[in-house]
Amino acid sequence: MSAEAMYEEIILDYYRHPQNFGTLEKPDIKAKDVNISCGDEVEIQIAVKEGKIAQIMFHGKGCAISQAATSMLTEHVQGVSLEKAAKIAKQEVLDLLSIPISPMRLKCALLGFKVLKVGLYSYLGEKRDGDECEDE
Ligand code: FES
Repeated sequence: MSAEAMYEEIILDYYRHPQNFGTLEKPDIKAKDVNISCGDEVEIQIAVKEGKIAQIMFHGKGCAISQAATSMLTEHVQGVSLEKAAKIAKQEVLDLLSIPISPMRLKCALLGFKVLKVGLYSYLGEKRDGDECEDE
């Protein structure tokens, strides 16, 4: 089996048995987005503890690439500080997939990444605004 075929198999396995799939009872962060070209969607929920991603779950529907990439991403950021997770680059997600992603599938591969960023940025932004208000 070639390396590419092996990684495709891993992606399919993540799609069939996604890690961190589900919802949290009381998420501190919740974000959702839809890939407008296909209608597929992903929602990510995060529980925050001491500035870190204590628990992260996702749910939604979509193609194997979008669901596997999101699942891999949730594992990748588990336990990571919010600030660090907010700085994750697109390439890190593509590296997790380990197979070449065509320009057509890029939106699929990065759907969860986009949702994660939106959630983290809005949480960190609100927190910053709140902190500034407390200082006043
Ligand atoms: Fe919809 Fe991939 S085809 S996210």
